[in-house]
Parts: sequence; C-alpha cells; structure tokens
Amino acid sequence: MRMKAISLFMGLAVAAVGASTLASTVRDEPIKPIEPYVSEHPEKVQLGKKLFFEPRLSMSGIISCNTCHNLSRGGTDNLKTSIGHKWAAGPVNAPTVLNSSLALAQFWDGRAADLQEQAAGPIQADIEMGMPHALALEVLQSIPGYVDEFESVFGSREITLDMVTAAIAEFEETLVTPNSRFDQWLLGDDDALTDKELAGYKLFKDSGCTVCHNGPAVGGTSFQRMGVLEPYQSTSPVEGRAAVTGKDADRFSFKVPTLRNVEYTYPYFHDGEARTLEEATDIMGRLQLGRVYEEQEINQIVAFLKTLTGDMPRLTLPMLPPSSNDTPAPDPYAD
Ligand code: HEC
Ligand code: HEC
Repeated sequence: MRMKAISLFMGLAVAAVGASTLASTVRDEPIKPIEPYVSEHPEKVQLGKKLFFEPRLSMSGIISCNTCHNLSRGGTDNLKTSIGHKWAAGPVNAPTVLNSSLALAQFWDGRAADLQEQAAGPIQADIEMGMPHALALEVLQSIPGYVDEFESVFGSREITLDMVTAAIAEFEETLVTPNSRFDQWLLGDDDALTDKELAGYKLFKDSGCTVCHNGPAVGGTSFQRMGVLEPYQSTSPVEGRAAVTGKDADRFSFKVPTLRNVEYTYPYFHDGEARTLEEATDIMGRLQLGRVYEEQEINQIVAFLKTLTGDMPRLTLPMLPPSSNDTPAPDPYAD
C-alpha cells in the first residue's frame, strides 16, 4: 500500500517537473512559437478547402480564393496589387492567408473582425470575384455533391452564406506554419540558428522592430502608423485604419503585417512598393525607428527574417464536385 502511494506520488512529481521544464524551455522573447492547429471539425475543414479552391464562386468561373492567396506561393499572389474580375486592378497588396487566424482583425485596415466575416467580402467584391452572394449560393445549391456535403457538415440541405463562410474560415484556421527554425530556437534548440541569423534577431529586437512585430505571427497584434518618424510616400489611394474609425489620427495606420514566411510574400507593404526584404527593412528602419542600417546589418536582419519560414500546410488538391445541368453558367465578361 505504502509503496504504491509513494510511487504514485513520485509519478505525479515527475509529471509536474516534466511540465514545468517544458514550459521554461520556451525562451522569454517578444515573439512566440506557433502552435499547430488541430481542428475538431475535419469534415468542415475539407468542405472549406474545396470552397477555397472553388472558381465557381466567381462570376468568371476562373477566380478562386487560391488565385490571389496561392497556397503554393505562401498564400499570396506576389503582385503589387491584386487583379480581380475582368482584370480589375485592386488598390492594395494581398496579404497572406497563412497564419491570418492569429491576427487581431482581418484586412490591412482591420475592417473585418474575424476570418468568417472576412470571407464574405471577396466573393461579392467587383474587383475580386464579382459574384453576387445570391448567385454564388444558387450555384452551390445546384451542385448535388455540395448539397450532400453541406448536409453532412451543417445538417441542412439549404446552403446559406453563413455556412459557406464558416467552412472557409475553419479551413483557414488550419493554415498555420509551426516549426520554423526560429521557433525551434525559441523552444530551446541553440543550434537552430546560425550566428548571423541570431545577430539579425538581436538587432531586430534591440532596435525596436518587436515593438510592433511581435507575438506568434510576428505582427497582427496592433494597428500602427506607416511612417512614424518620416512620412511614407504611397502610390495607393487607401487611407488605412481611418476608413474604419473615421479618425484623422488613424490615417495611414495599418494592421502590422505578419512576418511569418515573409520570404515568400513579396512584394511588401500595403501598396506592394517594396520589392525586396532588404528594401523593406531599410524603409522600416528609417521611417519607423529613425535608424539607418549599414548594409551588413540589413543582411543580418534579412537572414533572421528568413528563419521565420515554417512548415507549410500539406494539402492534396481537392476534387470539386461537377456542376449539374441546372448550374448557372459562368459569365467571364459580365459587368
Ligand atoms: C482578386 C484577388 C483576391 C481574391 C479572389 C480573394 N482575395 Fe483575399 N484578399 C485580397 C486582397 C487584395 C486583400 C487585402 C484587402 C484589404 O486589406 O483591403 C485580401 C485580404 C484577405 C484576408 C485578410 C488577411 C489579412 O491579413 O488581413 C483574408 C483572410 C482573405 N483575403 C481571404 C480570402 C478568401 C477566403 C477568399 C475567397 C472567398 C479571398 N480572400 C479571395 C485579394 C483577394
Ligand atoms: C511602429 C511600428 C513598426 C515598427 C517599429 C516596425 N514595423 Fe515593420 N511594419 C509596420 C507596419 C504598420 C507595416 C505595414 C506598412 C504598410 O504596409 O504600409 C510594416 C511592414 C513591414 C514589412 C513588410 C511586410 C509585408 O508583408 O508587407 C516588413 C518586412 C517589416 N515591416 C519589417 C520590419 C523591420 C525589419 C523592422 C525594424 C527595423 C520593423 N518592421 C519595424 C510597423 C512597424
């Protein structure tokens, strides 16, 4: 009896020590590791994935979320500003969808509170998919494969916009990129970074970049002015957060973008004007911190930024169910 009690006690003690050493190996830094995301709704994720790749949600029948948030290219289109329905030029650069679930709000100006609210926007927007919601729902409703799948996920054969956006949002929740070399270092692996990369991180932190770029996404935790110490000359007409709050003080304030996988998400800034990470780092140093970096310092910071690339979501291309005879035809040239 007594032995049992002791070994039980020791077992608990060992478990407790194990847990606390694990927690204490996460270095105390302004950047936190990304946690893998395990969905409790795998069927909803699969449906959301199909909808993310579904060009029939666009008027033209050729534009899907993946057109501009290409998951083979870091969740973006690598264009200065996006091109939508009828080759319409959008006003801003497409942010990545990778790790966007970690941000405090969606869009450069934060006008959508979360991923589900965000997902309704692009389907209908003239400069994106150009598809009235009612027609998008009619298309889905005419495809038997979708009706069955919506029923099994949501328990209803009547497809609503809420279901569409909820499924897309659940899929997007899975698009996190843990296990970058920087996260391995955060979790205690001293050998995960080279001396140059570590020097770059120290410079990034000590010069104040982490005041804005922090948390698990290395961004996405606040809205900040672009051009704190020097004004930013932009080619884009957008005014940033002021469009949401109506406050003059929020002009040119933007959601701080994530720097995760930033080596994939060029070009940079809301107007896509910076082509390289070196250029973006130089501009950030001058405009946000009043600091002019030497070339070698820029190279160190850029080397660090490249350690933020994590494990990309492993996806097999979804097969989309065929249209039926009743499915409305796409209209690529519709106004
Ligand atoms: C024509 C290109 C285009 C298409 C198609 C498109 N997007 Fe976007 N997406 C953008 C652009 C550009 C922005 C930034 C707009 C802004 O901030 O004003 C954006 C922003 C986002 C954001 C916010 C990310 C962040 O960090 O703030 C998410 C999430 C997103 N899109 C998901 C989707 C989904 C889901 C679809 C499909 C239903 C979709 N997008 C279709 C171009 C596109
Ligand atoms: C005062 C807050 C602040 C500080 C400090 C700051 N940034 Fe930024 N950073 C931002 C904002 C806001 C943007 C978006 C600006 C825009 O798009 O117009 C941004 C954008 C970026 C981008 C482009 C990301 C993309 O996807 O477009 C990079 C790279 C970047 N910052 C790196 C840095 C580095 C390196 C430092 C330190 C030298 C730094 N930042 C300091 C707020 C800050």
